[in-house]
Amino acid sequence: MRIIRTVDYQDMSRKAANVISAQVILKPTSVLGLATGTTPIGTYKQLAAWCAKGDVDFSQVSTYNLDEYRGLSHEDVQSYHYFMRTNFFDHININLANTHVPDGSNPDAEAACRDYDRIVAEAGYPDLQLLGIGRNGHIGFNEPGPYFSKGTHMVNLTESTIKANSRLFDSEDQVPRQAYTMGVQTIMYARSILVVANGEEKADAVYRMCYGPVDPQCPASILQLHTNCTVIADEAALSKCPRD
Ligand code: GLP
Repeated sequence: MRIIRTVDYQDMSRKAANVISAQVILKPTSVLGLATGTTPIGTYKQLAAWCAKGDVDFSQVSTYNLDEYRGLSHEDVQSYHYFMRTNFFDHININLANTHVPDGSNPDAEAACRDYDRIVAEAGYPDLQLLGIGRNGHIGFNEPGPYFSKGTHMVNLTESTIKANSRLFDSEDQVPRQAYTMGVQTIMYARSILVVANGEEKADAVYRMCYGPVDPQCPASILQLHTNCTVIADEAALSKCPRD
């Protein structure tokens, strides 16, 4: 695991965008695994700015998002479909037909998850997977539990995640209680992984991800076993980690 310490959120976002644009420049047909949450928004903004200048070209890229709330339509402003369009896809030259997010509007969880696993496998899994991290160490919506998950599956969100994500809704009651998420095994199939984290409220999770035991109670800790994982985090998120 490579850890890159940045001075602040903007520095984190620029460095992460640099890594992603290098991937796309080196392989224009890259398969990218993408994440939602507030953390990667700055990275997406930076990539959109470079795309507008002609420095990076997404026309041949395909993307696979980690997760989606169950029960929200693609047009719902709280859906991750909507998030990805408004924060990224609408601002770059990607072909929308090449973008994929689990289908939260499909109430048949088994079919929705099976279909998503199939298309991610057919794409050959991401060349680069971008990840944020939840305060409890979740990745995608893989919550702490007794074992690491494998493929795409439905999850019941924990109280702590519902609370943390409620800041993006009008009230906590509106946060969906379930989601479809890529499994931990699928995430580990990516050829490279890039985790972004900022802020003091992530410091415990970042410490456990990088230095704790590899334990499904902190799903992100499995990334220690990945052969090409980079963490780009600001001083506050790394405040509990040793400086060297
Ligand atoms: C959600 C997403 C995760 C994300 C996490 C942290 O639960 N499913 O993919 O990493 O939130 O979000 P934020 O970056 O807003 O702290």
